[in-house]
Amino acid sequence: METLKALPVEREDPFQPPALLKELPGSLHPMTYADGRLGWLVTGYAEARAVLDDPRFSNTQQGAAPPIKELAPPEGLTDLVIPPGFFIAMDDPEHSRYRKLLTGHFSMRKMRKLEPRIQEVIDGQLDEMARGGAPADLVKTFALPIPSLVICELLGVPYDERSRFQDTTARAVNLDNTVEQRGAAAGELMGYLSELVGRKRAEPGQDLLSELATGGELDHEELTGVATLLLTAGHETTANMLGLGTFLLLCHPEQADLVRTDPGVAESAVEELMRYLSVTHIGPIRVARADVPLAGQTIKAGQTVTICLPVVNRDPSRFPAPDHFDVTRQATQQLGFSHGIHQCLGQQLARLEMRLAYPALLRRFPTLRLAVPAEEVPLRPRAAIYGVAALPVTW
Ligand code: HEM
Repeated sequence: METLKALPVEREDPFQPPALLKELPGSLHPMTYADGRLGWLVTGYAEARAVLDDPRFSNTQQGAAPPIKELAPPEGLTDLVIPPGFFIAMDDPEHSRYRKLLTGHFSMRKMRKLEPRIQEVIDGQLDEMARGGAPADLVKTFALPIPSLVICELLGVPYDERSRFQDTTARAVNLDNTVEQRGAAAGELMGYLSELVGRKRAEPGQDLLSELATGGELDHEELTGVATLLLTAGHETTANMLGLGTFLLLCHPEQADLVRTDPGVAESAVEELMRYLSVTHIGPIRVARADVPLAGQTIKAGQTVTICLPVVNRDPSRFPAPDHFDVTRQATQQLGFSHGIHQCLGQQLARLEMRLAYPALLRRFPTLRLAVPAEEVPLRPRAAIYGVAALPVTW
């Protein structure tokens, strides 16, 4: 079997996985990682679930090889330090201690309670977009601010501090900024979250941070780490789904019409957009702790395994006619939120945001369309989360 040379991430078409990956036969492929080490790439649906379900694969990222050079750790850094509370990079039982404390706060029931506030956030952004007039960059006016403001609601960021919070978050994730600028903004944000945790402990309100701060289970540093994880895990992912998802819908007006006019379609549309776009296009990444046989081969202890979600979510044995985009498809088994113990904690929140945001946008601006030819929309193929850098629209 031919060995892949690092993970190809440039998509010939923004909505399709790289052609080289789609053409690979089988479900598990040897791959030379960006640092020269040999590891694996999983492209089969059943194999992806098997890896994500298997405790012999670690998620601490210790010793993980980078699938692309941009993900290599800074030179000289060999051992990663996982900040307290950053449980996405912990294995069980450490991981489950945090997860148990948080799961109840992200249930469907809890999220439904947030629904009116999320709708207000969305309507507020649409009002602002209308006030600013056409053309507009949908990323700046819609895709980025909505998840940021929703996280403010969840964490209990006071109203008069939201613009500062949003501005710092935007600086931390904006790829036009240098690594130093982004690092400085991320540091500012963590400082702010630490201070906010302190305030919530002293004067609790009706929000997640206050509940956790007064619950007595997490110390100050742990809670700051949890807040930072919630922000980083929930912001760019949702923003890229809103940006790239709107781009896809604008390129398929008949599908956009269904989302606009049929309230029953929003739910399946979200799953299909998640399946079709797979914005988490590099990973999940795991490191084998033991030799593990898979798909007729052996993954050796210490080797890195990358799950290729864009191809896994197009596995024809799970999704018939996988390249057909159909907002009425029941794609609930899609793996865009991962699977197993690390499957996305915020998935019900993300689903709710998207279920409300796409139809609201399309209804508010029924003539919404791209303001530039589709080929000119700038993409972010080498970022950890795939998406559009800007989405010029008019109406
Ligand atoms: C469309 C938006 C989103 C996408 C595509 C997404 C995707 C993912 C994926 C793929 C993972 C698993 C990584 C792995 O298996 O290693 C994950 C984990 C996680 N996500 Fe999301 N996510 C989204 C939104 C959110 C939101 C809104 C929040 C919270 C506010 C959130 C919080 C988390 C957390 C805390 C984890 C770690 C869970 C754990 O390790 O137990 N995510 N997400």
